[in-house]
Amino acid sequence: MGKINVLSFAVANLIAAGEVVDRPSSVIKELVENSIDSGADRITVEIMRGGISFMRVSDNGCGMSPDDLPVAVKRHATSKIHSAADLNGIRTLGFRGEALAAICAVSDVRIISKTRDSDLGAIYEIHGGANGELSERGASDGTTVIVENLFANVPARLKFLKKDATEAMSVAATVEKAALSHPEIAFTYISDGTVKLETSGNGDLRSAVRAVFGKAYCDGMIPVSDEREGIKISGFICAPMQVRANRNYENFFINGRYIKTKTGSAAIEQAYSSYIPPEKFPGCVMRIDISPEAVDVNVHPAKLEVKFSNERPVFDAVYYAVRRALTENDRRPELGFQAGQKMPSVSFAPQHASDAFVPVGSSADRGVQMNITSSAHVAAANKPAVERGAAAPFEQPAAVVKSEIPDKPYLNGTRAPMNAAEYGEYLKYRGGESVIGIDDEYTEFENYVSPGTGYIEPEIIRIMYGGEDAQKGSAAAASLNVSQTVPVPVPPAAPEADKDSRDVPAKTGIDYRIVGEIFNSYIIVEKGDTCLIIDKHAAHERQNFERFKRRMQSSERATVLLAVPCDVMLMNSEVAALEEYRAEIEKLGFEFTSSRNSVGLTAIPDGLDQSEAVGMIEAFAGVLTGSAGNVELTHDLIFEKALYQASCKASVKAGRVYPEEYITRLVDDLMKMPDITYCPHGRPVAFEMKKSALDHRFKRT
Ligand SMILES: Nc1ncnc2c1ncn2[C@@H]1O[C@H](COP(=O)(O)OP(=O)(O)OP(=O)(O)O)[C@@H](O)[C@H]1O
Ligand SMILES: [Mg+2]
Repeated sequence: MGKINVLSFAVANLIAAGEVVDRPSSVIKELVENSIDSGADRITVEIMRGGISFMRVSDNGCGMSPDDLPVAVKRHATSKIHSAADLNGIRTLGFRGEALAAICAVSDVRIISKTRDSDLGAIYEIHGGANGELSERGASDGTTVIVENLFANVPARLKFLKKDATEAMSVAATVEKAALSHPEIAFTYISDGTVKLETSGNGDLRSAVRAVFGKAYCDGMIPVSDEREGIKISGFICAPMQVRANRNYENFFINGRYIKTKTGSAAIEQAYSSYIPPEKFPGCVMRIDISPEAVDVNVHPAKLEVKFSNERPVFDAVYYAVRRALTENDRRPELGFQAGQKMPSVSFAPQHASDAFVPVGSSADRGVQMNITSSAHVAAANKPAVERGAAAPFEQPAAVVKSEIPDKPYLNGTRAPMNAAEYGEYLKYRGGESVIGIDDEYTEFENYVSPGTGYIEPEIIRIMYGGEDAQKGSAAAASLNVSQTVPVPVPPAAPEADKDSRDVPAKTGIDYRIVGEIFNSYIIVEKGDTCLIIDKHAAHERQNFERFKRRMQSSERATVLLAVPCDVMLMNSEVAALEEYRAEIEKLGFEFTSSRNSVGLTAIPDGLDQSEAVGMIEAFAGVLTGSAGNVELTHDLIFEKALYQASCKASVKAGRVYPEEYITRLVDDLMKMPDITYCPHGRPVAFEMKKSALDHRFKRT
């Protein structure tokens, strides 16, 4: 007898359900999408215990007739398409007729629904995929779906669910995306009896963005609106000062559907490439409206990805819309530029649309043909990335208008002069461009910048944005840091050795010599008959990672209290992620308070400066939120992964110049840790070259 069985209908259904529903947030996604498709203008999502015990989604949409209810929960039952041809132009979020069937297969479901033209509604109850029961029920117009005991009949799936808080966080992120994609719908999200999100549904995207991201972030955002080859781009992009350590803030909506799009990400990152540091990512809430015939949504089980029939026009549309918005934003009066004075015009037409299609990681803007007139500012911003990257890190800036700089010393008296190097870094941060107005007095920033903390005070931001837009400048500052400062990448504090190793007199027993540094990236050390070439970033990253791991294991806390708490702006779901890992993060030396859209750092780990601490928190937020969907990794492994990223953020950067003593300290510390050969990301930290090998190459032996 053959060994192949045809599975029963029930088992086949369970397997199919696994594709659609893997955790509470995927149930919520499907139910909310149904509610959106029903034409509702009010949707309420309520969950208990992260949704594992209870989920309810109510809408005031078209409702279902009693006859339709038992049909709706069958597989391949849909009112949204009729034939294969309809798949070529899908205009609704649902189309497979799978979602309700999948949800019913793995939980207990009650659907209460009433259409507008009937007097009485109906309730359909179905338990764990068995046959359902239909009965009449008074109800208001629309549909309510209640899902309980998720995965009670699929223990294998149940055991992969995370803590309630993590699941709730994932649900929150799902509702946030829905709210951003449909500002004309009023969303309410309630978790364990507390309202976590409420949008007005007034159709204004900005108000939905404010509800999700908070006022500070929203106020700094730049509107974007453009149309190219029939592709309409609208929404908001972040100001260059609001960049993030990860892609969590890149939100793309294609025809009202939240999706992950590599093309969109590539285009926006390319457009920002001359405005933000390479390791940072922009944020956006961007709607891409395109003919449904030009996009295939039937390519991903959770409908989270789409395929464009032609990616280039999409890339171009996003790229040029963002570029235009950024440049127009730049045209606001700046330092040395009189308010009302006209900036040179910039034409965005590429010579050939296809020239603008540049894959990520290629030499950036080279393929983009910009027809630019005489703005030095814009021209610099559009320089090929390769050229920009090759610029000396501390090349002297051209410009700052002396008379524009107020001459009073700033606030707390701890400010030290901003030297040429720091100002060069600052300009790089601003996009490699010089500020218009040109004169060599760059040290005029001296009273305004603290190299210790790496922050420029808002006064300077106000000057840069010009009087009229002062508030916007402050908003940008506020969005990064409530203490009204804006981070500027300055060299980090000297790498910190462990307390015990620091007690060792620095230079005793040293049997190596630091020869120097090449390419601002690699340190060359001579030791005996060996030459060591050290990747300074990888080395520091490894040291930081080891140090933080040790801190987590020890009961001692190495913490510095901040006189003024430093706020880090985050999404609601990111705050929830940090809350879930609070114990681990606090062991590192952080202390923080949480609110809806930010955390307030009240203490940071000893040995870090404030901007590094903020970078670490952002890295934690990004990785911990991003890993929420990973059912395979355990709590501890997820945190370890986040710690890799966070260690990276607190490490010296390749390509940047740091004072000699930083480098010496880094090497000294590294030489005390001879077993460290790889950074946490698995890249080598150092490699050796023997003198004999060199002798051999030069034919001395
Ligand atoms: N909230 C709702 N309001 C009105 N009708 C609904 C609602 N939810 C489901 N329906 C009806 O039930 C049908 C089946 O829903 P289901 O989510 O299973 O499939 P779908 O939305 O058509 O496709 P997909 O599987 O891609 O979501 C829908 O086509 C729709 O007619
Ligand atoms: Mg559906």
